[in-house]
Amino acid sequence: MSLPDSFIYDLVQNNPIDGVMSSYVNLMKRGRDYVCLCPFHSEKTASCHVYMSDMHFHCFGCHASGNVITFIMKIENLSYIEAVRFLADRAGMQMPDEANNNELYRVKTRILEINRTAARFYYDILTNSPDGEKGRRYFAERSLESSTITKYGLGYAPGEWSKLYNFLRSKGYTDEELVLSNLCMRGKNNSVYDSFRDRVMFPIIDVRGNVIAFGGRIIDGTGPKYLNSSDTPVFKKSRNLFSLNFAKKSEEKKLILAEGYMDVISINQAGFENVVATLGTALTPEQARLMKQHADEIIIAYDSDGAGQTATHKAINLLSEAGLETRIIKMEGVKDPDEFIKKFGAARFRQLIDHSDGAISFEMSKCAAGIDLGTEEGKLTYLNRVTELMAKIDSPIAREVYISKVASELNINKNVIVEQVESIISKKEKAAKKAERIEIERFGKQRKENPEAMAHLKEYRAEEGIIAYTALNPENVDYVLSKINPECFVTEFNKKVFEKIVERIHNSTDFDIMLLQSEFTADEMSRINNIIFNNRSLNISSAALDDYINVLAGYKEKAANVGDLADDDFSSFFENLKRNK
Ligand code: GTP
Ligand code: MN
Repeated sequence: MSLPDSFIYDLVQNNPIDGVMSSYVNLMKRGRDYVCLCPFHSEKTASCHVYMSDMHFHCFGCHASGNVITFIMKIENLSYIEAVRFLADRAGMQMPDEANNNELYRVKTRILEINRTAARFYYDILTNSPDGEKGRRYFAERSLESSTITKYGLGYAPGEWSKLYNFLRSKGYTDEELVLSNLCMRGKNNSVYDSFRDRVMFPIIDVRGNVIAFGGRIIDGTGPKYLNSSDTPVFKKSRNLFSLNFAKKSEEKKLILAEGYMDVISINQAGFENVVATLGTALTPEQARLMKQHADEIIIAYDSDGAGQTATHKAINLLSEAGLETRIIKMEGVKDPDEFIKKFGAARFRQLIDHSDGAISFEMSKCAAGIDLGTEEGKLTYLNRVTELMAKIDSPIAREVYISKVASELNINKNVIVEQVESIISKKEKAAKKAERIEIERFGKQRKENPEAMAHLKEYRAEEGIIAYTALNPENVDYVLSKINPECFVTEFNKKVFEKIVERIHNSTDFDIMLLQSEFTADEMSRINNIIFNNRSLNISSAALDDYINVLAGYKEKAANVGDLADDDFSSFFENLKRNK
């Protein structure tokens, strides 16, 4: 699908790069511009710059470079068209002509219709049919009010093999579409049957209100407790959160993160709109970033068992990497928030939130787990763990507070702990600096987008000069073409870049390098942006351009001479060599 230039210009305009990037990184103001820690390589000093005059970012460490579209392609790991769609959604823009000419769009629309129809079907059975009695009893036992069932659109999938299948076929959906939606499966003899049977159903709804998937819980019997839709063209479980459609409307910039669907529903029923859960998997970095778009602080309310606590520890790390503050709810004597609310009520749950631990206190109590602090060995092990933890705290003030706490807990001299923590920090800093240096050297040497560069350094530099000149002076493209054509380029990558630039200049009224994005990967675009960026300040003159052109012409001549030597010439050439020896 080719998108009009004007649409891409509007898209970039409507998604200011500083606003978009600040959902992912912590931007620090530098005059009109910003700097930040580069999200594409690990570093301790901010080498990623955001230039507001031409709305682009450039990392002096790993050379990632580009505009807001490149940024989204790289950080969300999306194709060009997916990134454009992502940004269009973000800005509330309609993709041009999508409805008419995009097969994928058509399939997605059908699957969303199927999902909505199925959700309605399951809901009707749960609330209105004799078949739904089992489900009704189950949810009543779990104290769900009927308004909650309606709010979440909960349902019941009957025990038969093809109730839903027959219903959806009668509505005109094909076997293929039903299998694609994951609501039905294809059996051995090619028969198609219902995926979810005899389960209570939890529709998963995205922030736009689309039903994108389902979770189904068994009521009795054996086997895995939950069946969740696998990924489909409309659903990626790593990129969505249960109940975010409600939570995003909450005024608070806080989200409660629970483990299970039932926990979320219980918490919500107790009056907390701002609660979400992952979809049957551990928290992913994408989900952490998704939360960052709606909140500054996450209150983790995972189960109190070992698995829940391990998951909490991992979530703390992921969430703080995404720039989110975390607090942790501590429940004693109950297994999860659902049980807590049933036992103690909503008001006590509110208190639990208000008294939730900061991430550091949580980790500190974990350091003491399984240790007898009465013994010398116990104290030592605890100190070793706790000093490692203190060394990870960025704020010196917070570090001071916690160190004092440990010192008084163990009744030992605070300065000893400070010394130990500082030595760990300085070791870590040295290691990080070294790793950073190595990485930058690696990025510097690497020319993976243009593997031929090293073998033809001189020509490669000339090519980049010509490319930069042409991109920066599009009005002179015909002059450049009168002197040189793409065939003269030595490296394949630069040849393609030059060809595409020329083509674009000829086909657009207002050329910009970003119009090449549909033709190249994000990393290739970074390379191209670097070519322009590195040459911009040089202000290539037309004399310099001529020099570059001569380099390529010279290379071509040389190559031609060697190849074209006729046999006679060749033997005399050879004789000459011998004579001159
Ligand atoms: P209840 O047992 O009804 O309270 O369920 P819950 O929603 O509280 O779930 P639980 O805390 O046991 O598990 C947390 C989440 O993990 C669930 O909501 C599911 O998303 C997922 N999960 C649990 N069991 C399974 C399973 O057997 N298979 C899969 N794929 N996911 C599961
Ligand atoms: Mn539960």
